[in-house]
Amino acid sequence: MTSSGRGNFGSRFAVVMALAGSAIGLGNIWRFPYMVGQYGGAAFILIYILCLVVIALPIFFAESIIGKSTGSDTFGAIEQIAPGTGWKNAGYIAIVASFVVLSFYSVVGGWSVDYLLRACTGGFRFSSGEEAAAVFSQMNSSAVEPILCLIVFLGLTAVIVSAGVDKGIGRFAKITMPLLFVMILLIVAKSLQLPGAQAGVDYMLKPDFSKISGKAIAAALGQAFFTLSLGVGTVLTYSSYMRKEENILYAGVWSAFFDTVFALLAGFAIMPAVFAFGLAPSAGPSLVFETLPVIFSQMGAAVPIIFFISILIAALTSSISMLEVVVAWLVDQKGLSRRAATIAVFVCALALGSACAISSRVFSACDFLTSNVLMMTGAFVFAIIVGWKMPKADVRTQFTNYGTSKAARATFPVVWFLIRWVVPVMIVAIAFTNLF
Ligand code: PFF
Repeated sequence: MTSSGRGNFGSRFAVVMALAGSAIGLGNIWRFPYMVGQYGGAAFILIYILCLVVIALPIFFAESIIGKSTGSDTFGAIEQIAPGTGWKNAGYIAIVASFVVLSFYSVVGGWSVDYLLRACTGGFRFSSGEEAAAVFSQMNSSAVEPILCLIVFLGLTAVIVSAGVDKGIGRFAKITMPLLFVMILLIVAKSLQLPGAQAGVDYMLKPDFSKISGKAIAAALGQAFFTLSLGVGTVLTYSSYMRKEENILYAGVWSAFFDTVFALLAGFAIMPAVFAFGLAPSAGPSLVFETLPVIFSQMGAAVPIIFFISILIAALTSSISMLEVVVAWLVDQKGLSRRAATIAVFVCALALGSACAISSRVFSACDFLTSNVLMMTGAFVFAIIVGWKMPKADVRTQFTNYGTSKAARATFPVVWFLIRWVVPVMIVAIAFTNLF
């Protein structure tokens, strides 16, 4: 049913790079490495991979099945599967979630533009954490600088999206994703050569099962959700641009594989350097914009430039996928041209993004609302639609690619059970644990 007029990814490589690009983002760089260290190293990595395989990948498959089988945007796809029911409203949840994540995520994208410019123009010399923290807070104390950088970041995102699915999104991902891996490997190599780097490797790898608590498992699950960009319609929308012969199982497994490898590499780029310089490991903006600048500015001029280009690429390939969810809806449902739709979303995201850039309370509220409520709700809806609304035979046909994929045929019974029972039950359980 995929209408060629909407555009397609021209190759399997483009599909996987675009999906991996959406998955690989700030979460892999500023959250995963710290989480691993805090929650038991290799023991946490095992739990994380389990969450990825048992919960996250089945949701990925569910979204992908909906998107590929309908060839439509998030709203239209659900309407096709459950016509005339209230379920289509759930499509709006995902679209709103995507828009909100786009808005606050782009603020951070803007900061990385700012830091990249500083690194390129020689203004990147920090001798202490306090000095770097002062520069970061000074940047944010004026509204002008973060908003200008936000405009640049969102503008880049919009230019790529408006160039089209294959020529814009696919081409950008095919070029930048391999480059991203090369760049992070360069930093890993540099980092591991520092005296005292071993402590950072131990931090990431030494297994400590005593740290595996309920909190650690919840953290692993939350990260698995966020990192695969689930519940917001990005996987659904990208899958609606897959050609008929693409394999959903293949796309999911490779995206999750690249995503996990990149997260581990980010850890080996960051933590050995943090320990070698005797600093404390941390997560979030303070890690990227306060701790790492001190370290990287002492590792030669090229390191901060390479690092902030990496952050920029990782953030851009994610923000592109969020923007595409909203653009696809406006194009498919409201009849707007891709260009007009992109401009409309750009303007709205700039408005909400500016509010996030100015107020850290708005920023945190958007982050909390999407990560804890909307993404989970969206994922729940996608699992129910596939597990309970689509006929099992249709789900099997899509997942196994009309019976042609041997691996998909073999894994289908397990995937079906996970989507139908395990995913919904687990999401409800998490919601209850979070509420009470
Ligand atoms: N997966 C991205 C990350 O790990 O940084 C975040 C993300 C991208 C969330 C796209 C949601 C989304 F739609």
